[in-house]
Amino acid sequence: MTKAIKDFIHVKEKIGAEPYLPKILDLPHLKGAVQFCRGCDLYRHATQAVFGDGSPHAKWIFLGEQPGLVEDRLGLPFVGPAGNILDEALKSAGIERNEIYVTNAVKHFKFERQGKRRLHKRPSGVEIKACQPWLNAEIDVIQPKGIVCLGSTAAQSIFGTPFKILKNRQKLLEHPSRKGLLIFITIHPASILRKQNEDERREEMQDFIEDLKALKKNFN
Ligand code: URA
Ligand code: SF4
Repeated sequence: MTKAIKDFIHVKEKIGAEPYLPKILDLPHLKGAVQFCRGCDLYRHATQAVFGDGSPHAKWIFLGEQPGLVEDRLGLPFVGPAGNILDEALKSAGIERNEIYVTNAVKHFKFERQGKRRLHKRPSGVEIKACQPWLNAEIDVIQPKGIVCLGSTAAQSIFGTPFKILKNRQKLLEHPSRKGLLIFITIHPASILRKQNEDERREEMQDFIEDLKALKKNFN
């Protein structure tokens, strides 16, 4: 067996995105390299990887779960229905989308086929962990003041263990290993869309806006 084949097998067997990070760590290089990531199996069925997008000088990184159906097609984070909810809430809280950076804990869309439809499936703990090097690189490059965790997968990616969102929403915590980096907890905007009726959706939206207004007070 040649060394090249041995190296190839070694990389294939190693779980996690680390071996796929580019040598030059800036956003354009990261965005290019993520398309070649094989750090877990999710690249196999997704259309493309969806990297973060937004201001490279953002004070806050907004962290979602994984791209959805629309994001998978368009290659940008939070541009589908959940993104519309996020945009509306940001606007109501007085935060401009172009002053923040938006990304996901997992960069490939995970789904289950049901006939012709592709239905969102939650990423596993192993997949969340495998994808962390990309998020870590985004944090290293952007050096934000803090990270807004949109829902439990985002919080699990930061804290490394399953995390109760509702008990912690609006809390300003500290990153477990990056001293001084703030972590703000709120819900995932898609959870509003999953509510049964209009009244519940309106209520949830109001609460989400209140969370973002609380964040806005600590924004700068
Ligand atoms: N949900 C997410 O968590 N991220 C997206 O980019 C879209 C929907
Ligand atoms: Fe790599 Fe993350 Fe995609 Fe898995 S989900 S292949 S770790 S970019």
